[in-house]
Amino acid sequence: MRVIGIETSCDETGVAVYDDEKGLLADLLFSQIELHSEYGGVVPELASRDHIRKTLPMIQDCLKQSDSSAKDIDGIAYTAGPGLVGALMVGASVAKALAFAWNKPAIGVHHMEGHLLAPMMTADKPNYPFIALLVSGGHTLLLNCQEFGDYQLLGESLDDAAGEAFDKVAKMLGLGYPGGPAVAELAKHSIKGAYKFPRPMTNRPGFDFSFSGLKTFTMNTLADIDNPSNQDKANIAGAFQEAVVDTIRIKCKRALEHTGSPALVVAGGVSANSALRIRLDELMKNMNRKVFYPELKYCTDNGAMIAYAGLERLKAGHTESLAIDVKPRWPLTELTL
Ligand code: KG4
Ligand code: ZN
Repeated sequence: MRVIGIETSCDETGVAVYDDEKGLLADLLFSQIELHSEYGGVVPELASRDHIRKTLPMIQDCLKQSDSSAKDIDGIAYTAGPGLVGALMVGASVAKALAFAWNKPAIGVHHMEGHLLAPMMTADKPNYPFIALLVSGGHTLLLNCQEFGDYQLLGESLDDAAGEAFDKVAKMLGLGYPGGPAVAELAKHSIKGAYKFPRPMTNRPGFDFSFSGLKTFTMNTLADIDNPSNQDKANIAGAFQEAVVDTIRIKCKRALEHTGSPALVVAGGVSANSALRIRLDELMKNMNRKVFYPELKYCTDNGAMIAYAGLERLKAGHTESLAIDVKPRWPLTELTL
């Protein structure tokens, strides 16, 4: 079975072809970073317009690279939400038009389920049940995953997502967009212990997160320094990153202890962060449980994860009409099989 996946939920156009026997056959990604960078963040209208330009030619290239024609494709997966409505509409419209023309099913994929399943595209795949930590630009979710399609919410961010906090701190420090990799890079030059930032909500029971106060704390620390040097900025980046990573570690440990789950799956853009990976590797070693991450290039948005999730949904008998319908807001827990 072979599925083409189309990701257009935000500022990356991703198209990929995944085959359940041969694996990933083609995988193309176009990032709009340059287009949005002068605005310091994603401009939704520009994002939609660029997806319109890129999607069909990329589909054509992906079919060529995977040596597939319409008759080889069993389904057209696309990101149906959550995300920017105009951007989602581009992928959904193209996918449904292809489904109609090729007489094949279209499969609307939940973007966060795509992230969640990205570690399954590696040789050493996680088995259910596991705890999933999904940390992206739009979401911070801790989930108890019983099986494919059965994800129970343990906790989430009450305000900024982890990636969003990285992006905002990057802006304060005068680093570019997207900020996560830039903050992580700057943090490498920090002097350990120069600052100690709070670990929000770790003294309270439960699994929810809040990163907005930490962002304000970071802003105030920076504002208190007259003419901050590069070293000051690096120290702030380091203390901020350490606080985010440690907060996440505390909540993951709590979720693993509470549920007795044997493994942790970490995915989404922030799962590329090496400080986070080091901390979680340590935690899981101490707890004698396993941790799984996607390959680095499948941490951030990509078409491969949508093709893979679409293939799994198609195998599970997912069907839908040709009506074009996207869900800019869509809780992952609403998913069923
Ligand atoms: O999953 P993703 O590509 O898009 C969403 O679904 O939101 O995640 C993008 C987010 C951005 O906020 C970006 O700054 C963050 O992931 N990110 C990182 C790193 N790489 C990407 N944050 C921290 N460290 C990184 N290395
Ligand atoms: Zn994403």
